Amino acid sequence: MMLPMKSESHKEKTDNPKWTAIILAAGKGTRMGSPLPKVLHPVAGRPMLQNVIEACRQAGVSDIRLVVGHGSHLVQNVVEPMGVHLFSQKEQKGTADAVMSAEPETIEGNVIILNGDHPLLSAADLKSFIEKFEAQKMDLAVVSAKLKEPKDFGRIVRANGQLVAIVEAKDASNDALKINEVNTGIYVAKAQILADYLPKIQNNNAKKEYYLTDILGLTIHARKKVGTLEGNPRVAFGVNTQAELAQASRIKYRQKAKELMDKGVLILDPRAVYIEESVEIAPGSVIYPQVFIRGRSKIGTLCAIEPNCFIVDSLLGEGVQLKANSYLERVQILNRASVGPFARLRPETIIGEEAHVGNFVEMKKVKFGAKSKAGHLTYLGDAEIGSDVNIGCGTITCNYAVDKKKYKTVIGNGTFVGSDTQFVAPLTVGENAVIGSGSTITKDVPARALAVARGKQVIIENYVKTEDKSQKTSDKKSGD
Ligand code: UD1
Ligand code: MG
Repeated sequence: MMLPMKSESHKEKTDNPKWTAIILAAGKGTRMGSPLPKVLHPVAGRPMLQNVIEACRQAGVSDIRLVVGHGSHLVQNVVEPMGVHLFSQKEQKGTADAVMSAEPETIEGNVIILNGDHPLLSAADLKSFIEKFEAQKMDLAVVSAKLKEPKDFGRIVRANGQLVAIVEAKDASNDALKINEVNTGIYVAKAQILADYLPKIQNNNAKKEYYLTDILGLTIHARKKVGTLEGNPRVAFGVNTQAELAQASRIKYRQKAKELMDKGVLILDPRAVYIEESVEIAPGSVIYPQVFIRGRSKIGTLCAIEPNCFIVDSLLGEGVQLKANSYLERVQILNRASVGPFARLRPETIIGEEAHVGNFVEMKKVKFGAKSKAGHLTYLGDAEIGSDVNIGCGTITCNYAVDKKKYKTVIGNGTFVGSDTQFVAPLTVGENAVIGSGSTITKDVPARALAVARGKQVIIENYVKTEDKSQKTSDKKSGD
């Protein structure tokens, strides 16, 4: 049954989709042992299902149909914005029943059937299956792979080299279990073949399920053009446990690190970096171990990203120094600026060229001008700081007021802010002003002015009435 979509915009059908994908994802994923639906578990930073969907899109598949179990609202929320059509399979009665749930009788053209939990599948893999299927004018093809350990996979049984059947491991004889050519669970078919033969499949097997693999016997018997297309073992890799999930992520991160190294990025230890597929890094930059770079991040040439940095959706220009243990989220750092160690830059912050942000500095929604410095222990929020500004140690903008609103601090070019200053926003400080250390600034400061707002120093002479200990000690010494 097709589930109604929440937003209308995805409803319109693409003109005559030549290729449709049916992605099976109704299985419970019991062995994951987690409350999250299996296909939403992240592989290298994004839901594994998204990898499969994007591979389909990049391979030119226009109509994507996803078969989900009853009540998979979480899956629906994630995939609907991707324009995927959801179909529900009420009871898990087997893979043939799952494909039938996606209403193949309503499809024109060709279909590729995939599993939602095979995250290592690439668009290039899919394209090659599609091309071979078309070139060989096939009616139905199963994608096979040769595995060292065929485990629970269905075995490809051949006679005189020709495909005869797929035997499930549970139903297989000892001889059949020795076959190392397996069914990856990916099929390519003319939609008409699915519509004609799926309803004929019976459930007389060990699991009492409707096996999609039984379509082979039926179509071979009907003298259709049926065969295998060979895929690499990566295509067969399915995630069933948390250990396999971690393995899939590791494979993807290693692939990405290798790709970057091939393009001239220096990666000190490719086993210890976590760079997502979508990230771009220019040649000549160096990435130290234990670095996470996520989402739409882009890093220019000749940058250094030191250990333990966490970078999300951020843009770094050229020659940026990001020192150890810094956390960046949706920020921009312009050329030759240096940030960290231990800096936290929050969304909508822009660090200007050659600026310096030092240790234990937090910024949120800040425009920090070129060559300005905030070297130590500072919080700047909702602020516009000009160029060549010195922000002394311990400076804070008091941006959050008792009315629960945020207010802005503006500081002009060339201004010197002494240490331990508080700016109670809203405030504007002109250019080339000087703020005395320890000031609590509550009023605007004109250009070139000195503003000091602290208690005046008071000296009370002879306030402490004690004997002169130093005198005593020296007396003692001389007495000895
Ligand atoms: C299936 C194949 C096997 C192949 C293996 C590859 C059959 C009978 N066997 O076995 O030959 O080697 O995949 O991984 O097809 N699903 C549903 N609804 C159901 C049953 C399954 O949506 O009623 C989905 C699952 O979520 C999963 C996929 O179909 O994504 C495969 O199902 P699974 O139970 O894992 O099949 P296998 O026993 O692994
Ligand atoms: Mg399986």
